[in-house]
Amino acid sequence: MSKRVVVAVDGPAGSGKSSVATRLAERLGVEHLDTGGMYRGFAVRCLRDGVNLEDEQEVAALVDGTDLEVSSGRVLLDGSDITGELRRSDVSAASSVIAQYPTVREYMVTLQRNMVKAAPSGAVVEGRDIGTVVLPEADVKIYLTASEPTRARRRAEQAGLSVRDGQKEVAMRDARDSARKHSPLKPAGDAVIVDTSNLNLEQTVDKVLQIVTGGVRD
Ligand code: DC
Repeated sequence: MSKRVVVAVDGPAGSGKSSVATRLAERLGVEHLDTGGMYRGFAVRCLRDGVNLEDEQEVAALVDGTDLEVSSGRVLLDGSDITGELRRSDVSAASSVIAQYPTVREYMVTLQRNMVKAAPSGAVVEGRDIGTVVLPEADVKIYLTASEPTRARRRAEQAGLSVRDGQKEVAMRDARDSARKHSPLKPAGDAVIVDTSNLNLEQTVDKVLQIVTGGVRD
């Protein structure tokens, strides 16, 4: 594909976003930006500093002093690589809490838009609000979803949890991420919805790639 392309991939926990977005970016030869990793990275900062996560002002006060770098699938906090910490259960839960706060979101959205602007060939950007808020002008918007049991199972496998704990985590984050006041998880009006419940990774990537190549003019 010769034209610069920006693809938004949104969806709930366990829908397969990260695996699909990683492979899609490889196939298209563009950057991959995992915005969930940024919220997770900031959640690690909040947990390390022991702030009360429910206190918006305490959390917001940390945003400006946080040095977060995201590149090639790694997240650096104050210069040190914290990628290995991002998938911990306490980090997952905390990321969904701090992502409710508008000061945190404004900071992340600015960083995300700058990173996409700087990507010469374009990017596959995954998150919850990419098609709706961060990049409403994205060339293609994909909304990945899957049944709740499927998502719970995938999340449990990914995080080494029991299926029951995976189910609890997914249900809790779904409720918070979809019901929050600022930039809730929802498909953009012009997103293509892809249900991955009965598709394996390869089938999903092929399907999404077809949508992207069909939706982008050279
Ligand atoms: O995609 P993920 O599971 O790594 O995201 C972790 C949390 O970060 C998710 O529960 C909600 C939040 N998030 C968000 O609010 N907006 C985004 N664009 C990406 C993630």
